[in-house]
Amino acid sequence: MTQSWIPEKTTRILVIDDDLSVRTSLRAFLEDYGYTVHDASDGLLGLKEWRAWQPDLVIVDLRMPIMDGFNVLHTIQTQQPDLPVLVVSGTGMVEDAVQALRSGAWDFLMKPIENMEVLIHAVSKALERARFLAFQNAYHKRLESDIEAKTLDLRQALDTISQLSLEVIFRLAKASEFKDENTGNHLKRMSLYAQAIARRMGLDSSFCETILYTAPMHDLGKIGIPDDILLKPGPLTPEERLCMQTHTLIGAQILEHSNIDILDRARLIALYHHERWDSAGYPEGLGHTEIPLEARIVSVADVFDALASRRPYKPALPIDLCYRIIMSGTENAFDPDVVQGFDTAYGEIKEIYCTYRD
Ligand SMILES: [Fe+2]
Ligand SMILES: [Fe+2]
Repeated sequence: MTQSWIPEKTTRILVIDDDLSVRTSLRAFLEDYGYTVHDASDGLLGLKEWRAWQPDLVIVDLRMPIMDGFNVLHTIQTQQPDLPVLVVSGTGMVEDAVQALRSGAWDFLMKPIENMEVLIHAVSKALERARFLAFQNAYHKRLESDIEAKTLDLRQALDTISQLSLEVIFRLAKASEFKDENTGNHLKRMSLYAQAIARRMGLDSSFCETILYTAPMHDLGKIGIPDDILLKPGPLTPEERLCMQTHTLIGAQILEHSNIDILDRARLIALYHHERWDSAGYPEGLGHTEIPLEARIVSVADVFDALASRRPYKPALPIDLCYRIIMSGTENAFDPDVVQGFDTAYGEIKEIYCTYRD
C-alpha cells in the first residue's frame, strides 16, 4: 500500500475500543503508517491514558461498557477542545454519529472499517486541521500581545504629550507673569481656587480639570504691556489704564484660532476675566450669563488671591477679610452662583492658601 501522507514520528494516537480485534487492527495499521499508538479497552481507562500520555489524536468507539464514547468525548471537549477526536460507530448507528459530531467530534468512521485508507485519510485530515488551528491560535495570541504592547506604547506616548502640553501651557502662563514680579504662587493658588469653586458648583469633572489648566493663562496678555505701565508703582493715568486693559485682548489674540478645546477655553478666560456681572467690566462690558462661566469663576478666584497677596502698591489683606469682601459681592461684580460656590469651597480655599503661601 502506498503511503499518501507521512506522519511525524512523534504523532501519538490513542485508540479506545472495547473490541480487542478492532483495537489490534487499528493499532497495527496506524503503526504501519508511522504513528505511535496506545490503546485502551473502555472509556475510563481511555481517559486515564489520555491524561497521562497526552496524545495528538483520539479515536473512540461510541458504544462501550463502563463508560461510553459520548462521555469520553464530552470530557475531552470540556478540558482540551483543540484535541481532534474521531468517533467510531456501528453500521446503522448514524444517529449516534450525528450526535457525536454535534458534541464536538471531528469526524466519524463506520464499523467495520474495511478500507483502512478511509481511516488514514480521516486521521491525516484531522491532524492537519489541528495543526492549522494551533498555528492560527498562536498567531492570534501573538497578534493580541503585539496589539496590547503597541496600545500601551501609544497610551504612554499620549500621556506624555498630554503632560507636555499642560506643562507648556503652565510655563507659558508663568513666562507672562515673570516681569510682573508680584506673582509668586499666584497662578497655582488661583487656579486651584477656581477648580475648588467649580467642583462646589457641581460642574462636571472635565470642566473642573480644564479650568485648573486654563485659569493660569488669564493674564497671558500682560506679556504685551510695556514695562513702564506694567511695573509702574503708582496709580495709572486714564490712558495707561486703558493700555493695561488691553492685556485681555492681547491674551485672546495669542490664543485665538486654535481648534484645541483647552486653548479655546483659555482664550475665553483671558478675554473675559475682567468682565463684571453688572456689565461694568471690560473689554466688552458683557453682563450676567453673557460672560462665559469659566471667566466668571476665574474672576472670583483671581480677585480673591489678589486681595490676599502683597502687591507693590498694597499690603496683603487678612484672608478672612478677603473672604468677606468677596461675599459682599463687591457691588454686583460677581455671579451670585459663583460666590455661593466660593462660600462652600472656602475651607478648601483656605487650605490651598496656606499650602502655597508666598
Ligand atoms: Fe487680568
Ligand atoms: Fe491674576
